[in-house]
Parts: sequence; structure tokens; C-alpha cells
Amino acid sequence: MKTQVAIIGSGPAGLLLGHLLRQADLDVVIVERHTAEYVLSRIRAGVLETTATDLLERLGLDARMHEEGLVHTGFKLTDGERMLRIDMELLIGKHVMVYGQTEVTKDLIDAAPGRGLEILWEAEDVTLHAIDSDAPYLGFTRGGEAHRIDARFIAGCDGFYGPSRRAFPESVARDYELAYPFGWLGILADVPPCDEELIYANHEQGFALASMRSRTRSRYYIQVPIDTTLTDWPDERIWDELALRLGPQAAEGMARGPSIEKSIAPLRSFVFEPMRHGSLFLAGDAAHIVPPTGAKGLNLAASDAAYLSDALIRWFASGDAEGIDGYSERALARVWKSERFSWSLTNLMHRFPDGGAFERRMQVAELDYIAGSRAAQTAIAENYVGLPL
Ligand code: APR
Ligand code: PHB
Repeated sequence: MKTQVAIIGSGPAGLLLGHLLRQADLDVVIVERHTAEYVLSRIRAGVLETTATDLLERLGLDARMHEEGLVHTGFKLTDGERMLRIDMELLIGKHVMVYGQTEVTKDLIDAAPGRGLEILWEAEDVTLHAIDSDAPYLGFTRGGEAHRIDARFIAGCDGFYGPSRRAFPESVARDYELAYPFGWLGILADVPPCDEELIYANHEQGFALASMRSRTRSRYYIQVPIDTTLTDWPDERIWDELALRLGPQAAEGMARGPSIEKSIAPLRSFVFEPMRHGSLFLAGDAAHIVPPTGAKGLNLAASDAAYLSDALIRWFASGDAEGIDGYSERALARVWKSERFSWSLTNLMHRFPDGGAFERRMQVAELDYIAGSRAAQTAIAENYVGLPL
């Protein structure tokens, strides 16, 4: 099989990139390890920046998002003492769209056949070859048979655990990592949200977040010790903890219900440089991870896909290599700023097990500063809605 761009991974990064390249009439194939059902069963964050909504509009795949998504013009930060609203609309005239990553992925997968975007599901043991040359290829097995895809370029959109990043020679690569000493326990339930907006809470017992998927489906998170397991957390214990951490006002508006999904995720900041080597490009979680505070993961996958598709389309149209040569630097400049924001919001809103009294006072002082400073609120709003491409 021969194609112009072979994409590994059919998460948001691979799907957005694939659709953008197909829109420019390029030949693209996506190889994905799992089934579509599996990919669509993964529950991830749900706040879209304009960067991501613009791409869905550009693709003409925004109808359901505009119908079912919720426009949020503000969000809240609380520490028990105060409830602070970051009014994005007032401060910078922008908003975010609350629409689950699962729904974005579904819209992109559903539209793939009609757009000539081929996705090879259940492709096992994907290997990358000749990435230093201009004739790279992928090997994999499917249904017990060996296959090969020859391409001009390979896009590694295979998430944090995929093979693409590992195909970079050690001599050219560097990674930067920070692991946090806690995780997030998430619960999804078919109950109305406790508030119209998202609430990020820093409580003595640890962080909590009230989020939502729709007016009838809520998504909540609490900070938990790194070594905890789901068996430690029956639903009632989670609801009690949420009511405590989010504060009396949210607790009053909170409807409890049986969980339809529960999971624990560790928190990590990670950046891999560079994002290109020879004919191989990385996009999304394959190259970087942010802690979920701020919901930047999907949005960074979207901005990578935007930069990379523009660069590849330009190269195939005219042989102009400026875009592909500048891709890594351009993408990383935005990645590092999102990393900074996610890291600082994580530091501000969580309780660190070995954090001392001084660190705690720094959090209080920062929240106090934000509460009294329009400039500080504007900086948070500008980052939350997403920095320009
Ligand atoms: N072969 C083929 N596909 C693979 C392989 C492999 N060896 N390894 C991983 N994949 C697939 C995964 O099954 C997954 O579907 O690559 C895809 C990567 O998708 P995501 O993990 O969703 O990553 P990405 O597309 O970069 O999207 C980033 O997803 O993880 C969240 O919070 C993150 O919102 C962010 C977004
Ligand atoms: C979510 O709804 O899952 C969500 C929202 C905001 C975040 C993280 C996750 O910062």
C-alpha cells in the first residue's frame, strides 16, 4: 500500500490531521491499534478552545458541537474562603466550548468514510522504518497478516505510549518530565451539574473539580493519593468528598447519582523535543503531556494538527519546505506556554503531600492577588481560552 502521509493513531491528533490533509485532497491512511468502539469508550476532558472549534468549523464538522456543546463565558476558582469568577467574556471577549473529547472523536470517526479518510483499525505491532530517508514506511499486522505502508511522511499521533517517539535516535532527542505526587479520580454520572460553570477548588482535603458534559451529565474529579485504588472509592465516598471540597454552595446544588464511569489517572507534565526527525513528525500526546488542570491536552493536539497540516499541504503543493522545517519550533513554542499554564494552575489548586506552610501561604497570596487584580484575571482568561496559533 502506498500513501502520501501515513498517520499512526486515531485519537484527536491523528483524526484532525487526517481530515485536514484529506480536505486538501492528499492521500492519507491512519493505522490504529484498537477498535473504533474502544477509542470511543475513552472518557477524556471536555473543554475546547477556539483553536479546536475553529478547526472543526473549517472541516465542516461542527454541527453537533454547536447544537449540543455548551458555551461557557466564565469559570470559578475557590479555596473555601472565596469564590472567584474568571469572566472570560468580560476580560477578553472570548469563551470556551464544553463538548467532550469523546464526542469530538466520534464526529471525526463518523465523517471519515465520507471524506475518503481510511482508518485501519486493529493494526498490531506497528513499526517505523527508514525515517531518515524520503521513503519511510510502516510495518504492521492485521488479522494475522503482515502489511506495509510506504509513505512520503509519517505522522506519529500515537499518544504517550506509542512507538513513534521511541523511533527518534537518542542522539537528537531530549525529554523534560515532571511527575506529580497525586492523581485525579474522575466520576461521570447522569445528574445535572451543580453549577452552570466549572468550579476548580483548592480544599484542605485536596483539589476538586466540578465539570459537565451536558445539562444532564456531570463530570467531577478529586485529587487522590498516587497509590489509591478504585475499590477505596465507592460512589458515596466520592460524592461526600466532592460536597466537602467544592464548598457549601456547590454542595447544595449537587445531585448525586450512580457513576457510569470511574477512573484514576496520574498527573504528569512532559515535553519531548524535537517534534520532527527526518520524515517523521510527532503530534499530540506522542510529544507532550499536560496535567489536566486547564484541559489543554486535546487543544494542544488540535494546534499541532493545524500547524502540521498547513506545513504538509504547503510542501505537497509547491515543494516549499519552510513549514515542515519550522514545524517543531512553532508547535513547541505553543506547547511550552500551555505546559506553563497547566503546571501553574496545578500548583495553585492542589495540596502537595510534602508542601509546607510557606507553600500554602503562597497559594493563598496568589489567589488573593488574582481576586484583586484584573490584570491577573486577564492573564488566566487569555490562557484558559487558548493562546493564538
Ligand atoms: N499502533 C497504532 N496506534 C496506536 C499505537 C500503536 N502502536 N499506540 C497508540 N496508538 C493509538 C491509541 O490507541 C490512540 O487511539 O494512538 C491513539 C492516540 O490517541 P490519544 O492518546 O487520544 O492522543 P492524541 O490523539 O494525541 O490526543 C491527545 O487525548 O490523551 C488525551 O488528554 C489527552 O486530550 C488529549 C488528547
Ligand atoms: C472535564 O470535563 O473532563 C475537564 C474539564 C476541565 C478540566 C479537566 C477536565 O480542566
